[in-house]
Parts: sequence; structure tokens; C-alpha cells
Amino acid sequence: MDTNPEPFESLDLDPEEFRKLGYRSVDMITDYYASIRELPVFPNSTSVEVEEVFRENLPETGQDPQHILDEWQSKVLPYTTHLGSPRYFGFVNGSGTMIGTLAEALAASVNMNTGGWKPAPAATEIERQTIAWMAELIHYPTDCGGLFTSGGTMANFTALQTALRNIAPYDTTVKGLQNKAFSGRFTVYMSDHEGHISIVRAADLLNLGRESIRLVKSREDFTMDTQDLEQKLDEDIAQGDVPFCVVGQVGSINVGAIDPLVEIAEICRQRGIWFHADGACGAVGAMLPEKRPQYQGLELADSVTLDPHKWLYIPYECGCVLVRYPEKLRRAFSLTAPYLRGTLPSDYTGLWYLDYGPQMSRGFRALKVWMSLKHYGAEGYRNLLSQNIRCVEYLDACVRRDKDFEPLHKPNLLMYCFRYAPRDLRQRWDDPETLNDYLDQLNQQIADEIQRSGVAFIMTSRIRGRVIIRLSVCSHRTTPEDIDIVLAKLKEIGEKLIRM
Ligand SMILES: Cc1ncc(COP(=O)(O)O)c(C=O)c1O
Repeated sequence: MDTNPEPFESLDLDPEEFRKLGYRSVDMITDYYASIRELPVFPNSTSVEVEEVFRENLPETGQDPQHILDEWQSKVLPYTTHLGSPRYFGFVNGSGTMIGTLAEALAASVNMNTGGWKPAPAATEIERQTIAWMAELIHYPTDCGGLFTSGGTMANFTALQTALRNIAPYDTTVKGLQNKAFSGRFTVYMSDHEGHISIVRAADLLNLGRESIRLVKSREDFTMDTQDLEQKLDEDIAQGDVPFCVVGQVGSINVGAIDPLVEIAEICRQRGIWFHADGACGAVGAMLPEKRPQYQGLELADSVTLDPHKWLYIPYECGCVLVRYPEKLRRAFSLTAPYLRGTLPSDYTGLWYLDYGPQMSRGFRALKVWMSLKHYGAEGYRNLLSQNIRCVEYLDACVRRDKDFEPLHKPNLLMYCFRYAPRDLRQRWDDPETLNDYLDQLNQQIADEIQRSGVAFIMTSRIRGRVIIRLSVCSHRTTPEDIDIVLAKLKEIGEKLIRM
């Protein structure tokens, strides 16, 4: 044996050095949170400029970690869009919990892999418990199955895969879609206005083809027209298709609409079809007593998507899917190999999440939800959600009393859409079609310019084909003053653009 071996290296830092870096990091995070209200919400830089900041050669030798932290301050923060800002209203992006930030660091330190019980005993049981809490929060049966996913899209995919595997007339686990004895189409149903594009992504991932998504008419209030649903289902069944899933919206992407859940559940029950409730944005609203009646029927869904990284303010990423009967989830995803968990039975094993979802290796996502729920409690969350809804109602009231704005729907949950359409401009304009085209452009320009101003981050969408301003209020930091600021800026920019 070599008496003078090369020393073995590890990535570990000296404990004192690590402590110093850790304290500095916590100081940086604390200062960040202290300044979050004042920061420009968007950095107003082009992708070319940001790319330039980060372009450098692969480091061949290691660098001083203090210098790497300097770069966080000098390079990363200046080019960050601050989703935690009280005036960030983009997509449906939650604002992050402080304790969730700490949870991310703690979870990384133990580095448990929640694909299996053995590499993650505590993490698995925390996930199991937190999933039951998620169900309890929304009044869904707590003996359901479910797991945390990367987001709503993967939660919807997990639900649709489970639906297909459990509803198809043959075992798709073995034959997939390549069954010579079967020629029907597998079809999915969602409403035409508010159905979410992630369902299309799920159909893509399942290789069903985008035509498998059948769009059901919406009613005046943007909810699904169940008569049209029944008609489409029956026509499709009559022509040999296999409708296997109806997706109901539970707090839709533009207007926070909740589909008629009880009716959809009954239509599905009568025909043996899976009922999936996409509550990525809005399902957690079920925890509010005043909103509960709208959620009636959610408990009848075969599966539910709800995203902690949206309206529970959990830091990215964290989606969640609940499935009424855990064995149906297992039927869709379970597989095994000798190297996965050994072959002899043992007491020292438990739930292996790799049997219940698409991922094998999985992070410890549940910790940030578990810690945040413990920190704020269900009551704390109910207050925060109500606070967001109050801001949306305030926004609606401001829009309705201002002749420059046009309201487009009744406010419900956290989403709100309206249009900048000054009354005198509308009165001056002769042709409604060209007026609408002009307003489409104007509203888009306003949103773009507000983003670049850094005052607020708002986006556009389309309602009944027209471009509109859309705000999703899911920051626990937003107050009515923030709504005032964004509306004042919006008018200032709108007036300037009209004058140009
Ligand atoms: C209703 C609905 N479903 C699914 C998703 C997709 O969620 P994610 O972006 O987390 O994948 C969204 C995103 O906004 C959504 O609003």
C-alpha cells in the first residue's frame, strides 16, 4: 500500500467558514425582504443584456465562496423579477413565505430523496401528513392519495394519466395507446374560455394528440355549460370515442370562475368518466367559509389539482395533486426493479412515492408547505386569502367608479380582468370594430410599459377575444394602496399613449 497517498478531497467547508457564509446569506436575505416593497418589480433589461451579464468561461478552478455571494448581490438581484413584491400581479405566481425560504435551505442540507421511504423516512411521512392537511383545508376526504409535484401542469398530467389508466377499457399500462384491437379516441373535456392550457400539455405528454381535448361551451359567467358537455359526451360515445376525463375549473385563470362541480360530478358518475377538478389557482379558496357554497361538489372529484406555489404563497416549485383513492394513483404509476427497493419484505420500509407519481428521484418539497402551514396555521391562511379577495373587490370598485375603465366580470377569488377604455374615447369613435382593435393595442402597450416602469408587474390576457388587463392578487404583501398605485400608473400611461 502506498505510504504517502494523495489526500482525499471533499466539497465540505470548514464549519466556521460555512457559518460565516451562512450568516452572510441570511443577512442578505433579510435585507432583501426589508427592501422588497421599494424594489423595481421588473429589471427593465433585455434578454441580451442579461445574457451578457452571465456569459463567462466554465470555471476551471474553484473560487472564493464570499466572491460567489458578492455576485448574488451584484449580478443576480439586479436582474431579478421580484415575485415577492406587493405589486407583482403576473401569471398566478405566489409571493413566497419567509419560513419557506429557510425550509428550502434545511431540506437541501439533509438532501433526502422522497422517491422512496428508505432514503427519506421523515420527508415521506411529512409529505403524507401535509397531503392530508391539504385535503382537510379544502374539505376533500383526508384518506385520499396524492403528492407534491413541480407545479400545476405536472399535477394535471398526473391526474390525467391516472384517469386514463383507470378508465380505459383495456390495460393501457401494458399496451399504451398501441392496441390493435382498439380504434376509439380517448377524449378529455374542458370549458372553451377558461379551460387551462396545462391540460393540453398533459394531453401532449400522454401522446393523445391535442385534438383529444374537446372544448365545451361556456355560459355567460364563464362557467361550463353542462348541457353542452352532456351533448358532446353522448355524441362522442355514440361514435365510438372513449371520453375518459372531464376537467372542471375551480378558480379559473382569468376570472376565477368555478364550474358547476356537483353537476359535472353527476354527469361523470352516470357515464363512468373521471372527474378532475383543476384548482391550481383557486381550490384553496374552499377554506373560506363565505366561499364554501361555490365549492360544493369538489369533494366528489376523482382528483384535484391545487398549487401551494400559487395561493398558499409557497416558494417555487410546489404543485399538488390529490386522488380520491390512493390505489388508483398506484395503478397508474407503480413499477419496480430489483435495484429500487430490495426484494425481501422488511418492517423498515413504508410509502414509496415513486409508485404514486411520474418522478423517481424527488426533492423534499413538502417541508416548505409543512413549515408554512405550521407557522401561519389554517386561520392565518384564511386571513391572508380574505385579504387578497378584499384587494380584488377594492380593485373592482375602483374600476367601476372610473369612467376610463371597463369592468368585465364580477370579482370572485384572486383574479381580476378589466380594460382601459376611456369613455370619451369610446364616444368619439364611430366604428366599434376599429375601436376594439385600437383598445387591444393600447391595453397591451400599457401593460408592457407598466412592466418596464418597475412600478408594478401586470399582464394582459383575452376575454371574449379582446385584449384586457389581468391582475392576479396572490401576494400576501398586497394592500389597497398597492392597487391605487397600479391604477394611477395605468391611467398615467394610458393618457400619455392616447395623446401620442
Ligand atoms: C388553472 C390552472 N391550472 C394549471 C396551471 C399550471 O400550473 P403551473 O404553472 O404550476 O404548472 C395553472 C397556472 O397558472 C392554472 O392557472
